[in-house]
Amino acid sequence: MHRIAVIPGDGTGPEVVREGLKVLAAVAAGKGFKYELVHYDFGGDRYLKTGEVLPNSALEEFKKFDAMYLGAVGHPEVKPGILEQGLLLRIRFELQQYINLRPVRLFPGVDCPLKDKGPADIDFVIVRENNEGLYVGSGGFVRKGTPEEVAIQEMVNTRPGVERCLRYAFDYTRKRAKRVPLVPNARPKGKKLTLVAKTNVLTFGHDLWWRAFNEVGAEYPDIERDYQHVDACCMWMVKSPEQFDVIVTDNMFGDIITDLGAMIQGGLGIAAGGNINPKGVSMFEPIGGSAPKYTGKNVINPLAAICAVGMMLENLGEQAAADAVEKAVVSVTANKIKSLSAGKMGYSTTEVGDLVVAALQ
Ligand code: IPM
Ligand code: MN
Repeated sequence: MHRIAVIPGDGTGPEVVREGLKVLAAVAAGKGFKYELVHYDFGGDRYLKTGEVLPNSALEEFKKFDAMYLGAVGHPEVKPGILEQGLLLRIRFELQQYINLRPVRLFPGVDCPLKDKGPADIDFVIVRENNEGLYVGSGGFVRKGTPEEVAIQEMVNTRPGVERCLRYAFDYTRKRAKRVPLVPNARPKGKKLTLVAKTNVLTFGHDLWWRAFNEVGAEYPDIERDYQHVDACCMWMVKSPEQFDVIVTDNMFGDIITDLGAMIQGGLGIAAGGNINPKGVSMFEPIGGSAPKYTGKNVINPLAAICAVGMMLENLGEQAAADAVEKAVVSVTANKIKSLSAGKMGYSTTEVGDLVVAALQ
């Protein structure tokens, strides 16, 4: 029995979560496993009504689940930062979900903005450090509001924090070799880990990353170590994405390059991620935002949220169910929907969920 906490969240979050849960119900029936859902209404609306973002008691409850499933956070009437920090980042930090795992895979049938690139070329995974770096909220103002104002935002890199992330990335790279590829002409994977950083400028923080990468990497002689500066990495992700296998990077750079990754895999409509605590409770989410302008219109693409369910199932140990969800999504992208963009899919949000359920059978 898997116990799952569900936070549909803001904007289109509840619409895509509904489809994800529809697919979960269908695959559970098909594969014969049981689960229990507990819904939480945290997000912008609740905050506007009650002033509460996330009570401590909820965090304690979350720690007792087997997994968490999140729709989206971000509300047009709430000042930027309040929900992001008080809800999303607080869960990531307090539950020590120190990995943000974001696969970048072009599914068959999906339009790619890169010329002459197909599913065999765009198939890599970004391991983003998820608890440190520029995200810790360390810093402050001096002389705030005056012409001489100073604002300092500190980037925190700890050796244990960096090392556990690197170890996860090396282990994950190894595991990738055993994966069944999406397309027959796929390139071999599970061989190379690329550290993406900026060692030529961030001569303290990323020097630590560089040394730890090589020291930890020495324990993984079967995995090739590669390095790219983050600016060059952006260029290569567009020019020759086929060179990547697994990328490991810090929190801020990971945030940025995973949005670029989402675009080359066809858009935020299909990009999913997991906030992972390898020894605790992990949280899965579509990586796009709450898309307020599409809210309630039944036009947003639920595939990212459905893929997040697939990642959650893998994390729960339901590998056969995870594979079935992935296969069903591939059959929908390859044979059914015209575009991944909201309003242009040729189907509504609920219909896309139904298509995936039908493809599971
Ligand atoms: C993401 C988002 C978040 C982040 C925001 C909402 C705080 O952009 O999950 O990538 O920056 O991590
Ligand atoms: Mn982001």
